[in-house]
Amino acid sequence: MSTQPTAREQWNSRLGFMLAALGSAVGLGNIWRFSYVAGESGGAAFLLIYLLCIAAIGIPILMAEFTIGRRAQQDVVGSFQSIAPGKPWVIGGFLGVASAFIILSFYGVVAGWSLYYFTQYLTGGPQPPAGGDYGDFFGQFHTATWFPLLWQFLFMFMVVAIVFVGVKKGIEKSNKILMPLLAILVLILAGYGMTLGGAGEALSFLFAPDWSALADPGIYLAALSQAFFSLSLGMGALITYGSYLSKKEKLPGAAVGVASMDSLFAIVAGLMIFPAVFTFGIAPDSGPGLVFVTLPQVFSDLNMGLIYGLLFFFLLTAAAVSSGVSLLEVAVAYFMRQMNWTRQKASVIIGTIIFFIGIPSSLGFGAWSGVTLIGGRDIQDSMDFLASYIFLPIGGLIIALFIGWGWKKSDALEASNFGDSLIGNIWIWILRIFAPAAIILVFLGSTGLLDLLF
Ligand code: TRP
Repeated sequence: MSTQPTAREQWNSRLGFMLAALGSAVGLGNIWRFSYVAGESGGAAFLLIYLLCIAAIGIPILMAEFTIGRRAQQDVVGSFQSIAPGKPWVIGGFLGVASAFIILSFYGVVAGWSLYYFTQYLTGGPQPPAGGDYGDFFGQFHTATWFPLLWQFLFMFMVVAIVFVGVKKGIEKSNKILMPLLAILVLILAGYGMTLGGAGEALSFLFAPDWSALADPGIYLAALSQAFFSLSLGMGALITYGSYLSKKEKLPGAAVGVASMDSLFAIVAGLMIFPAVFTFGIAPDSGPGLVFVTLPQVFSDLNMGLIYGLLFFFLLTAAAVSSGVSLLEVAVAYFMRQMNWTRQKASVIIGTIIFFIGIPSSLGFGAWSGVTLIGGRDIQDSMDFLASYIFLPIGGLIIALFIGWGWKKSDALEASNFGDSLIGNIWIWILRIFAPAAIILVFLGSTGLLDLLF
């Protein structure tokens, strides 16, 4: 692994790149975050707005990130600096590196839960305490002080190990095998979900919008944030991945492919989780514990449930690892160049720092559960709010404006492989006007930001 910017690593193949981008996109966001946010935000109406955000804002910005990264062949900060030296666009790069620290810090906590559940299924599955249910099991586990930190640490260790080894060997290989497996398993479980008594209720919860939910301004920002989070957008993860891509590859197909697979994953995950939610009488808005309470219930009712549970939490953890890797890679790529560190040194140092930043998020569920930071949110939720509701949309805004107004149009069209086509021009105008306006409107319109804060 060279540290010379002139000899950057590259993906082995187009498929390898697509799977790595998809590996970044598909993770806890699709299964854990999507289900609990959709559950809290009323289901179908939220899903509709979320899909609109993906199509109209997400995909164009995804294209923009790939385009910037491949053109600049640099980390996120370096990309802005090398394309527009001395211009303020680079703020987007620094926001991105900051987001990587924040998101991975709490992401590691939740991924640690998933890892712990996996090990539970190695030894007979989670055992609810006497007279309690899986909610109590989860409650006892995640509110403890030290134990969850161990799992968070182990997860971060795996992420660091992969980034340590490097882009091609580490990131590309693991994704090629695990992503398709996860897709198959989630499909099987969704199929099983359809046989449960709560399936009908789940389908109407997910697909029959309660239009009155659209009157709640908070839902738009929730949906936009979820779109950014789920696509790994707005902080340069995909700029960084695009920078390992050769000039030959065609970008638009990759962007649409990644976005549609990612959304499909979320919907199928919904079909897996919500039938169980309704069948077992779990509240859809019960928050971040939703998957960790619902699914063990499903597995315990299922023939060979232990094996499904084992596979599921293995693959969920693996999906979280590949997403965690993309988060760490953003920061590592930056510090390698900026500080002239080797990949090995950067991954160990940054990974360690992020582990420590994550500790309060974990403690916030137990020992520090009285602590609230932003608008009554606990620590983990505050971190998520800061990154997903504020940094990512602003990062996305900067990325859109950067290509839309900071580049010559002909340049952007060429670098993106759109050429001077109708669709290329639509893309440019989305980045120039539509996406920025939509993001700003969602911010302001959800009178919101203020209400949410106080
Ligand atoms: N998209 C991932 C998920 O859904 C999480 C993630 C990875 C992410 N990289 C990111 C989120 C960059 C925001 C920005 O689990």
